[in-house]
This record gives sequence, C-alpha cells and structure tokens, in this order.
Amino acid sequence: MEFVLYEVKGQVGIITISREKALNALNSTVLEELDKTLDGVDLNEIRCLILTGAGEKSFVAGADIGEMSTLTKAEGEAFGKKGNDVFRKLETFPIPVIAAVNGFALGGGCEISMSCDIRICSENAVFGQPEVGLGITPGFGGTQRLARLVGPGMAKQMIYTARNIKADEALRIGLVNAVYPQGELMAAAEKMAAGIAKNAPIAVRNCKKAINDGLEADMDDAIVIEEKLFGDCFETEDQKYGMAFFLDKNKEKVKEPFKNA
Ligand code: CAA
Repeated sequence: MEFVLYEVKGQVGIITISREKALNALNSTVLEELDKTLDGVDLNEIRCLILTGAGEKSFVAGADIGEMSTLTKAEGEAFGKKGNDVFRKLETFPIPVIAAVNGFALGGGCEISMSCDIRICSENAVFGQPEVGLGITPGFGGTQRLARLVGPGMAKQMIYTARNIKADEALRIGLVNAVYPQGELMAAAEKMAAGIAKNAPIAVRNCKKAINDGLEADMDDAIVIEEKLFGDCFETEDQKYGMAFFLDKNKEKVKEPFKNA
C-alpha cells in the first residue's frame, strides 16, 4: 500500500494513514487502501484497532482539496459516497476502533475520527469542519455524526462558523475522551486497546453492536436489541469460563485469556 500502514501488536491492529506531505489528506487512493486494510484485518486474532496519522503534525487534514476542486455534481456525490462507504465500514466494524488523533483533524479528518468508537488526542490536536469556507458541506458524515456526538447546537455552531477548536475545547464538548502530551498518545491508545482486548471478545463486539444499533432505534426496540445480544453471550465458552472463574472460591486460581469462542 502507498499511503496506509498496518501493524499488529499482540491482539491490537494499528492502522496509520501515511501521506505526510499532504498532512495525511484523504484522496481516493487513501480511501481505497483504508477499505482494503479493513478487509484484511484478521478478526480471529485482532480484538481492537487503533487509527492514527503519520508524523507529529496531522492526524488527517481532510479530504483532498486538489482532487475535489474539479469535480462535477455527480462526481462530488460519488466522492462523498466513496468516503461514506469506508467510514461506515469503520463505524460498523465488528471490533472497537480507537482514533488516536495526533494533530489536525479537519473536515474528513474530524469525520473519520467520529466514525471510530472512541477518540483520544494529543495536546496539539485541532478539530473542525471548515467545509463551508471552501464552498461545500461536510461530505463524509460530519453533519450527521457531529450532531449526534456533541449535540445539534454545538455541531451547527462548529459547522456554520467553520471555526477550528483545540484539544481542550474538544474535551470539554465531549468530542474526545482524553488529551495526552504528543509523546504519550500512542502508548495511551495501545494501553486502552490492550485493556479492551483482554475482555471477552464476543461480549465486546456485542456491546458495540448493541450501542450502535440501539442508537438508531427507539427505546422499546433498542432494549430488545440488547436482550438478544445479551442472550447470545450465553452460548459462548467465554461466558461459561468468565462466570465459573468468578464463582470458583479457590484463591490461587489464575485467569486464563478469553478464547473468542
Ligand atoms: N487536501 C489537500 N492537500 C492538503 C490538505 C487537504 N485537505 N491539507 C493540507 N494539504 C497540503 C497543503 O496543500 C500543503 O501542500 P504543499 O506543501 O504541496 O503546498 C501541505 O499539505 C502542507 O499544508 P500547509 O502548507 O497548508 O500547512 P500549514 O501548517 O500551513 O497549515 C492546515 C495546516 C491548517 C491543516 C492547512 O493545511 C489547511 O487548512 N488544510 C486544509 C484543511 C481543510 O480545509 N480540510 C477540509 C477539507 S474538505 C473536506 O474534508 C470535505 C469532506 O468533508 C469530505
């Protein structure tokens, strides 16, 4: 791959968007490579993903403005769909994805981070949806996910004014969960990912599905979604082992890794 790196550390997969000369901006090739990278993740082994950007300046500085500048109406719509398809794959990916936002997360960069389950960032991170300053709307899900994450009032302010916000403000409005010094960000992301990876994987996946699917349903349907996914866990070896381990009164016992079965 030219612009996307994939590295495995234990049960954690790390995807790095690496197009530093353009501050990791998303052109068609980056989007296609991200799609292929996600398709290649071995879900029998990997229990959590981290998504980050190469270098210390930018996570992703948006969709590629050069590529978009000459698009027709139909091509613009198709480019939006191309990004949306990949971002939706990320959002509905069976295992959790942590965005480690290490600098600019503008336009498509903010949008891809919002397609991840959890966002943490470095102190130099900058978030924003600058699209209206370029004559377009956010096109990779920004109008939808920002409003769901920080509420419609704050989302509308950010999108209509095109004003960027710094890490501390992103934390205050709930766009990110935590802020770290640049040098500590990846270690923090890996620690969180390893913490997720050690839990019962089928249960973790079912939690992701319950939260995501439930948010799209009304409460009566949403709790039924949870009931079914909760019930499914009782068919797993991991549930039998996890509960038997708790109930075993032998103090010398050592907890074994969950089997993903
Ligand atoms: N697309 C294409 N190239 C980009 C880019 C982008 N989104 N962002 C940065 N680059 C390129 C620059 O053109 C520049 O390339 P050259 O060296 O060849 O000139 C290189 O990356 C470095 O950028 P700057 O010189 O501008 O760096 P800076 O430190 O002065 O500024 C910045 C950094 C504030 C992030 C600035 O680059 C910037 O404003 N970038 C654009 C951010 C933006 O508007 N993003 C939204 C895009 S629209 C979108 O994403 C639509 C959607 O929802 C799908």
